[in-house]
Amino acid sequence: MVVSQLSLYKLTKGIEMSDIEIRIERLKKLSDSDVDDINRILPNLTEDYDGRSVNMPALTKIISSPLHEQFVARDQTGRIVGMATLSEVISIYHGSVAYLEDIFVDANAGKRGIGSMIWDAMLDWCHERGIKRMEFTCRPEREAATNFYKKHGCEIRNTNCFRLKL
Ligand SMILES: CC(C)(COP(=O)(O)OP(=O)(O)OC[C@H]1O[C@@H](n2cnc3c(N)ncnc32)[C@H](O)[C@@H]1OP(=O)(O)O)[C@@H](O)C(=O)NCCC(=O)NCCS
Repeated sequence: MVVSQLSLYKLTKGIEMSDIEIRIERLKKLSDSDVDDINRILPNLTEDYDGRSVNMPALTKIISSPLHEQFVARDQTGRIVGMATLSEVISIYHGSVAYLEDIFVDANAGKRGIGSMIWDAMLDWCHERGIKRMEFTCRPEREAATNFYKKHGCEIRNTNCFRLKL
């Protein structure tokens, strides 16, 4: 199945792997094998992974929503090896900002630039929408993610992060 293709990249980084081609897509349709891929790589999302499968109603809502985008990275065989979700959040004062959720890459394909490709695709999306700011949270003990965000120019914002459980 084909979804809109943002870019085709050739990766040559990493000495232990032969070249792989990664395509970053904005997911618009889901195949059964996509769902299998997502469930296979989902444990990479968080160290608190509890064995649950992807939330299908949520994923379906994201891919059909004009205010959300599900980015996926596919390898040359079409398998999904990384993902991220962006949402456009609209403020009457700040205008549109992007909120990032659930960026992760299959550990077997990590540190080879795939996360950065997803990042670039997300910046394209923000640029197309005139969005000038992306926000997200990240626990300090997440070393790879913290390095990743800093490498991409993100700053730690000094504010309280509230939660109300409903
Ligand atoms: C964060 C993550 C998406 C980065 O994906 P990636 O494909 O490995 O990223 P890249 O290869 O593009 O790496 C870019 C930079 O990220 C940092 N980084 C990536 N993996 C790292 C690791 N294992 N340890 C330390 N820094 C790491 C480095 O600064 C790296 O730059 P470098 O290659 O010049 O050293 C990936 O590590 C991941 O899935 N982590 C687990 C899930 C997670 O924590 N998500 C964020 C939730 S807030």
